Amino acid sequence: MAQSPLVDVVHSAPGNPGMDEIGPCFDVAADDVDGLVKLALQIEPDLIVIGPEAPLALGLADILRARGFDVFGPSREAAQLEASKAFSKARMMKYGVPTAAYGEFTEAAPAKAFLRTMTAPYVLKADGLAAGKGVVIAETLAEADAGIDEMLSGKFGPASATLVIEEFMHGEEASVFVITDGKGAVYLPAAQDHKRVGDGDTGPNTGGMGAYAPAPVVNEQIMARVKREIAEPMLKGMAKDEIPYQGVLYIGIMVTAEGPKVVEFNARFGDPECQVLMAGLAGDIVPAILASATGGLKGNEAAFESLFELERFRPAATVVLAAKGYPGAYGKGSAIRGLKDAGKLEGVTIFHAGTDAGPDGAIIAKGGRVLNVTASGDTLREAVDRAYAAVDVIDWPEGFCRRDIGWRAL
Ligand code: AMP
Ligand code: GLY
Repeated sequence: MAQSPLVDVVHSAPGNPGMDEIGPCFDVAADDVDGLVKLALQIEPDLIVIGPEAPLALGLADILRARGFDVFGPSREAAQLEASKAFSKARMMKYGVPTAAYGEFTEAAPAKAFLRTMTAPYVLKADGLAAGKGVVIAETLAEADAGIDEMLSGKFGPASATLVIEEFMHGEEASVFVITDGKGAVYLPAAQDHKRVGDGDTGPNTGGMGAYAPAPVVNEQIMARVKREIAEPMLKGMAKDEIPYQGVLYIGIMVTAEGPKVVEFNARFGDPECQVLMAGLAGDIVPAILASATGGLKGNEAAFESLFELERFRPAATVVLAAKGYPGAYGKGSAIRGLKDAGKLEGVTIFHAGTDAGPDGAIIAKGGRVLNVTASGDTLREAVDRAYAAVDVIDWPEGFCRRDIGWRAL
């Protein structure tokens, strides 16, 4: 956004040392709604972009809109598409959107009885927000039973007081993004995340270990079906039910033998998919974001989509550097060196996530996913090679990454 000619300054809260290089950062937490509203009143920004899911689920967009601000991000109720799996499944059923068959439970006995009507592998999901870690895929009934007991007894706190059990969908996953003002809709090129922690898609789920775009699995025909069978009925249905969706809708799909089906919705740009989309887009994203916030997308979709069209998109890849131990327990406070040199390599941009400023300008780790080493290129191969070349310049013994980002497309 800082690169847009429409933008004078980007203020961030809470920000991190990477964002601090771009504009002023304010020490207000992403879920501190009162603090954020106060900050907005103080800065009086022309546009507010709500990045993560927590403040959306808390209704920050509603409060800011009521105060007269232009806001990119859905209302509290519309954000339930991400914040409650049960809400999201119920909406998909209502609007006839293809997704896995499911049941919703708050008690173990009926949940276990339902399991026995399904076949392995079993998919258990905490209803609420769990930072990408609220899904268990169990190979056996015993494992699934244990997962049900664990979740209902509070593994994710109130987020898992309700449980969704789903049919397992076979296929390849991808992420599709729709920017909407509730009426018009523009689509960005599809991306692919890598959710498992280990190479070859092994180990537990994470918030995402790397991504690339465009994702060839979403060919023209699949994209047309995502629009017609998923995005359009969802957006129309939500509008009709007076829960208009304003912001970016992230559609996580499984491309199955029967076509695309919804795995999940997010009420925001995906992380790390956003990083590759921003690195690859030829055109300015800000006019579309502004139009989503202020209305006026309907009828003007073609003008926006010409900025995002695949022919002009630069293939891009991002590699997540995470703290050893993630998505389990990990250490904090270790020093990261070589970021400046890595960032100077051709086509490379390094986005910060869980970093903090240490003494004497040092960058230290303070989160699970810490850096997004991102590159664009003429081809995906070139983008991936550039990203890994930058990863290899970064000196952080306490970190790790996957070495196979982009493997499905390559
Ligand atoms: P979610 O948070 O719902 O996106 O689930 C996290 C991950 O679990 C997804 O990205 C998939 O890799 C996997 N997953 C979730 N639901 C299903 C399903 N019904 N069938 C197969 N895999 C799934
Ligand atoms: N990359 C998946 C997510 O942002 O939830």
